[in-house]
Amino acid sequence: MKNIAVFASGSGSNFQAIIDEVERGELSARIALLVCDKQEAKAIERAKMHNIEVFGFDPKAYGSKEEFEQEIKEELQKRNVHFIVLAGYMRLIGPTLLRAYEGSIVNIHPSLLPSFPGKDAIGQALLAGVKVTGVTIHYVDEGMDTGQIIAQEAVSIDQYETKETLTKKIQQVEHYLYSKTLKDLLSK
Ligand code: GRF
Repeated sequence: MKNIAVFASGSGSNFQAIIDEVERGELSARIALLVCDKQEAKAIERAKMHNIEVFGFDPKAYGSKEEFEQEIKEELQKRNVHFIVLAGYMRLIGPTLLRAYEGSIVNIHPSLLPSFPGKDAIGQALLAGVKVTGVTIHYVDEGMDTGQIIAQEAVSIDQYETKETLTKKIQQVEHYLYSKTLKDLLSK
């Protein structure tokens, strides 16, 4: 069974979906650590509820990304983490972690990449007036949502769609698609 770490900055609903799959015995992995850069993130509460260790840090307390990533790397290595799952972690991963975890970091993004990378992908899709958007799971490289695509699923944008209704539809897809994809990746 692989030790994984989840990185999140916000609500952590994808983190929760992964916790649930692990606890149901559907996903064979151990969540060894939550890495979180926001003290007030709901993801931290979720970790505590499920006895998952948290490495919380304030990026402003460090001189550079290299410095905090070095510390994260040590925390991961201490716990024998071999795979990193980004779930709403709002930062680009730098060379320190990319080199240590080459090919073993994945991310989920709420659009059909390469369309609408970066922040507010759902808002971007609505603004563009597209009729189909979706969810992408991809490997992480040094770019913003640019790594090799692993899985995608489309979500339709209906006539009276609002940001709220579309977010809900996308989240539903995210929650099962991430677990399903992780199952495949972690069984290799
Ligand atoms: C998700 O939409 C994910 O695709 C994006 O950030 C959001 C995180 O949501 N990378 P949550 O914190 O898991 O609810």
